[in-house]
Amino acid sequence: MSFISEFEALAEDGARLAFLGYRLVTDPEGLFKELRDDRPVWNTPLGTFVTGYDHVMEAMNCHQVFSVRLYNEKMQPLVGTYPLGVDDGADYLRDASLLRLSVAAEDADHVQALADDVVQGLIAAVRQTPGPVSFDLVKDFAYRVPTQVLARYFGMPGGAESPGDLALRDGLDAIFCDIFDNLTNNDGLHQAAMTQAGLLLPILEQEIAEIGAGKVPVAGALVIPRLVALRAAGATSRDDLGLAQLVLGTIAGVVTTIAIVVANVANMLLTATNASALVAARTAATANDNDALWLVVREAMRFAPPAGFQLRYAERAYTFDLDNPGTTTVNANARVLVCVGSAMLDERRIPSPKEFRTDRGAEDYLMFGVGMHRCLGRFIAPKILVSTIGGLLRAFPDLQIAPGKRFEQDMIRPGFPVSLPVVAE
Ligand code: HEM
Repeated sequence: MSFISEFEALAEDGARLAFLGYRLVTDPEGLFKELRDDRPVWNTPLGTFVTGYDHVMEAMNCHQVFSVRLYNEKMQPLVGTYPLGVDDGADYLRDASLLRLSVAAEDADHVQALADDVVQGLIAAVRQTPGPVSFDLVKDFAYRVPTQVLARYFGMPGGAESPGDLALRDGLDAIFCDIFDNLTNNDGLHQAAMTQAGLLLPILEQEIAEIGAGKVPVAGALVIPRLVALRAAGATSRDDLGLAQLVLGTIAGVVTTIAIVVANVANMLLTATNASALVAARTAATANDNDALWLVVREAMRFAPPAGFQLRYAERAYTFDLDNPGTTTVNANARVLVCVGSAMLDERRIPSPKEFRTDRGAEDYLMFGVGMHRCLGRFIAPKILVSTIGGLLRAFPDLQIAPGKRFEQDMIRPGFPVSLPVVAE
């Protein structure tokens, strides 16, 4: 019996949600293949799933119909008005421009240097005694690296002295979880995020006020000082709290995302079935060839992107390109899950999608989004990823998953890494 007919045979939404969740965890590949083949646009009471590459591109580029208002509902109580939750217009343009100037693509080398420094520090910490090492790649690196790098790059208070502080990491993760993962609006998760935002915003607000009053920023900090300078130049009317919200919204959205990618990519490389990918990664790392290593990491992300879908809301009913077989109408007011992860495996558009290849064109990769909200950190993020994966492979040439152990993900939050115990001589 196919997944769709089994799903449709269930009467209750709760049972359908449980069945869908089960299949998403146990056989995502089979599930999405069936949807791409039979229902590339699939209306369910839980939301509309858009899974085919062409349909995904069409939806993501049609931002007049598929709005980001659901993000706004999530972000507003935590970090106020944030570009990812704002549709096209003057407000979006003003804030997105402010962020694009403050998180500049030109910072890539600077971020790479910060990341290298952080990664070397963490490697030294796990190597305190001579001889074989064993550590947890998720706990000791996946979360710590982006927390420390972004704290320093943005100029979060304490970023230089106590970066990677667990309280900061957990606070950012709680906010991320409520915005991007709390689809059922669980109140406990929301309250936990509100508490963390309530703790972090005043700290950021004070730092912004002090920088505005002339305090010299910590070495390496670029983003907060730039935001303050742009405000002084009249680019925004956001007050200290408004800038703090912009900073918190960005960092909270990013740390967990990078942690998921580091964990997924490391697990994929260290799993025996991916021997050729690991060889390619080790060769690039040993040669200090960051460009070649990025092609390996990027391809690994195609198989295991940090977010399988982007959330949208259908402002009105929309019928996809009528010439396309499998055409369907999305109902007005539907929650739409635009499944970029599925699109990157669509055999109709991606050549040999199951093959691990590093010679693909940029159009095969959608994990940084598509359309007007495409990730503005997409030139920075690869530096942090390559620095982490490359640093580990160089420092520990025989790094492997600890015998008898495996990659553990959260039972309640599928896709979120918990532990990847590794060993090396
Ligand atoms: C592996 C790392 C990252 C991944 C996979 C990623 C992915 C994404 C995706 C998929 C979107 C679009 C979401 C949507 O349309 O619904 C997005 C937007 C965004 N990203 Fe990233 N991101 C990463 C790192 C970063 C970094 C390092 C920064 C900044 C420091 C950043 C800042 C942003 C911002 C501000 C937006 C909203 C842009 C807008 O609304 O115009 N991201 N990201």
